[in-house]
Amino acid sequence: MVLQPNPSPMMSHNTPSLPPSVFILPQTAQLEALYTIIRDKNTSRGDFLFYSDRIIRLLVEEGLNHLPVVPRTVETPTGALYEGVGFEGKICGVSILRAGEAMEAGLREVCRSVRIGKILIQRDEETAQPKLFYSKLPQDISQRYVLLLDPMLATGGSAMKAVEVIMEQGVPEDRIIFINLISSPEGLKTFSTRFPSLRVITGWIDQGLNEKAYIIPGLGDFGERRYCL
Ligand code: URA
Repeated sequence: MVLQPNPSPMMSHNTPSLPPSVFILPQTAQLEALYTIIRDKNTSRGDFLFYSDRIIRLLVEEGLNHLPVVPRTVETPTGALYEGVGFEGKICGVSILRAGEAMEAGLREVCRSVRIGKILIQRDEETAQPKLFYSKLPQDISQRYVLLLDPMLATGGSAMKAVEVIMEQGVPEDRIIFINLISSPEGLKTFSTRFPSLRVITGWIDQGLNEKAYIIPGLGDFGERRYCL
């Protein structure tokens, strides 16, 4: 028997204005304080790393809340039986390079020795469409739940291309969970219309995109802020 996740008040929530596949972290004052730090252009790289890692950890934990579980009974040191649950299937991560790599450590912190694949997508200068440049995915990815990692959902172009690549390997759409720190409403709409049964876990939904496809207010270029001194 597989038990489907049962959303509780502690979990991310889906509001009526969001597509049913989109979940947002509880918008607490603490979370807003973390976002305020990483959005501030004067925040040092060290603080950006530290506080974005804290948000990534919350998002990964939340992603795991959406995995189905099966009943599992264990014996405790008292000799009593405890009727609990265990995860039903195997998982893996897939990061969209390069910014998504920043989320790998957060996944490894909670899922010991988890397999993590990588996908590199860039704009094709001729067609202006997202193009796959490189992918390395676990061989048995079709047997796994996939946590797709990319911190910023702007237009959704790269994320949608990445999902196509993963689904071509035999992973059903509803076995993929896309985790990101900040989403644009436009990107969320495009993405969730295209993949209605793929769960999106986001930390914050911003106002929109500017003419350069940066999220506003956003935090600038996540990769630059994370990797460049
Ligand atoms: N990627 C980023 O790093 N920032 C944005 O605002 C949009 C995409």
